[in-house]
Parts: sequence; C-alpha cells; structure tokens
Amino acid sequence: MTSRRPKVRPVQKALLGWYDRHKRDLPWRRTRDPYAIFVSEMMLQQTQVKTVIPYYERFMKELPDWRSLARADEQKVLKLWEGLGYYRRARNLRTAAQSVLADHQGKLPETLDGIMTLPGVGRYSAGAVLSIAFEKPMPLVDGNVIRVFARLFRLKGDLKTGPGHKKTWEIAEELLDRKRPGDFNQALMELGATICVPEDPQCLLCPLRDHCGACQEGSQTRYPQASVKADTVEVVVAAVLARQGSRFLVRKRPQGERWLQGLWEFPSMEGKDPDSALTALERKYGVKARRDLFHEVGHQITRHKIRLRLYQAGSARKRPKGEELRWVTASQALALPFSSAQNKLRRTVLKTAQKAKTPSGGNAKGILRIQGPS
Ligand code: ADE
Repeated sequence: MTSRRPKVRPVQKALLGWYDRHKRDLPWRRTRDPYAIFVSEMMLQQTQVKTVIPYYERFMKELPDWRSLARADEQKVLKLWEGLGYYRRARNLRTAAQSVLADHQGKLPETLDGIMTLPGVGRYSAGAVLSIAFEKPMPLVDGNVIRVFARLFRLKGDLKTGPGHKKTWEIAEELLDRKRPGDFNQALMELGATICVPEDPQCLLCPLRDHCGACQEGSQTRYPQASVKADTVEVVVAAVLARQGSRFLVRKRPQGERWLQGLWEFPSMEGKDPDSALTALERKYGVKARRDLFHEVGHQITRHKIRLRLYQAGSARKRPKGEELRWVTASQALALPFSSAQNKLRRTVLKTAQKAKTPSGGNAKGILRIQGPS
C-alpha cells in the first residue's frame, strides 16, 4: 500500500469495528449515568485504567450521586482518593458536585462552555464526558491519542504543546465519528492503551495498520518524537515522628502548601538539606529529634523527585498558629488520608510499633519502644 493520508470514513469504520469486538468491560462502561462517567473521567486523568477500577468502585459505593458527594466531608473524599495521587482532582470533584447542585439544578451541564465552568474540567475532560455521557460530537486528545495520531499521520516534532498540540486537536475534530462520538473517543484511547503502546506496539493486531503511515514504513517506534523533558528537581524533606506514649503527632497540610493540601502527615518540611530542614522542624514544633535516620522513602510527584526522611523525636511543646495537629494512635492514624510517600512512612511506623507491643519487643508497662525499622 502506498503512503498517503488516511481517509476519515475507513479509519472510523475500522476503529469502531475493532472497539465493538474488543473493548474492555469496564465498570463505567456499564452505565449511562453522567455522574458516574464524570467521576470515572476525573479519576482517569493521568492514571491508568487498572489503577482506577478499585477506586472507582469504592467511590461509587460510598458516594453514589451528586448530592452525596456535595455533602461529603472533604476528608472523606480524600480518604477515598488516598493513593491515587493528584489530590486536587478529588477536591475539585467535590466542589464540582456542589456547583452542579447549586448552579445547574442538579444536572451536569451538557454544553462545552457550561461544563468547563466546573473546577478541574479542561478540554480533554469536557470532550470525554460530553461525548460519552451525552453523545455530543466533541473530540478529545490525551497522551494515548497523541501517540496514535503521531504514528497514523507520521506527525513530527513536539505534539504536547504549541502548534503540534493544536494540530492533534484539529485531527481529533476531523476524524471524530459524529454518530458515535463517545464510542469513537473511547476506541481511540483504548487503542493507545492496549495496542498502540509506547515501547512495543502490537501492529499486527491493530485495526488501523493498513491506514497507518508509520506502520507502513516500519517506523512506528520512532513516533511520537521525544519531546524535551523538563529537568527533574530533587526535593529534600525531613519529617519528625514525635511521640507521647503510644500516640504519634500528625498534621493536616494547610491550604497554603504547594501540594497535598488537606492530607495528613508526620510533620514535615522542605529544606536545602535534611539537617537544616530537621532543625527548622525542631524550632517550629518545639521538639528535640535524634540525628540518626529512622526511615527514608523516595517518591516522585510530576518532575519533583522527593527524598523524605523521618527522624524520631520526643513530645512537641509548640502548636504553631494555623496548624491542625493531632496526637493519634496507630488505628486513628490509619483512618486519616495520607499521601503515598507519607503512607510509606506510616506503614513502617505502625509495623515497628506493632513489633514493639509483642512480648519480646515491648516493655513491662506496654509503652512502645521504637528502635528503628528492620
Ligand atoms: N482514559 C480516559 N478515559 C477513558 C475511557 N473512558 N476509556 C478508556 N480509557 C480512558
């Protein structure tokens, strides 16, 4: 076959035919409820389908409609989101539910302008929700779709920003099947997630192989061309494990933090190095910390590579203004929403505390003696 620009109708037919035969049975594909579809699309932003499924199912069981979500405590929503990351999505989702009730008579807006007034809804989510829930002819572009288009049309250069990105939206608009926009958009994303994958695309199984410019010349792994990656930034964070008997000091991250607001943690602080961060923490909370490291974990948030180090300390003498602090037992700590990195610390602390409670690890008065993680 000679290399020429793929034709719209044959691409739509091949893609939808494949989707009808091979689509995954996903929980949000068994419903037409706009609320359920909205929740699923918020969760699916930057997160893989298999990660989202258990979160989605738990969330829908606990908060099955706009009203229950709008009325839910933010802490409850964050707890249901715990581990999924990008927690702003959870806070936005709750605020969006409140807006649907207060400003839209309890119904999700069905226009692009209307739905984009909701917090957390950009062009991608608007296209996904309007097409899937209401069959509106709205295109969408996400990372998977960019890869499919890059190969299909042999698009060169950076497709994530600027004119390259604009081009992908033009293609999405042109290719969209206007009779089945929801299925078409999901088929494109599904193809990118399961067949047209980054490293080892399964071109032999691809419904678009006869239309694909890159596949025809065997250059599929060279598309999309690598975009310039922002440098990773190392972030050093110290945290204190302050204790009073069998209780630990935890803190709710306030609004002013640059990320993870509303989540709980062992009080932590960024610094140019672990020691200066620890000294600042000692001053802030009036604690005296040991200098030997209790536990360290690594975690990545976007391009920030975080090194989080936990140090043992005694009781805290200060309660800084505006800080929400609690002394909690192990089981109370588990009931609070923690970020993934802080959850790794929490797991180690609880395991070590449990070990200390056993006859060989504790002392006669049942007071916890935390040595260090094994
Ligand atoms: N990614 C985002 N939304 C999706 C959907 N509805 N189906 C498959 N993958 C997706």
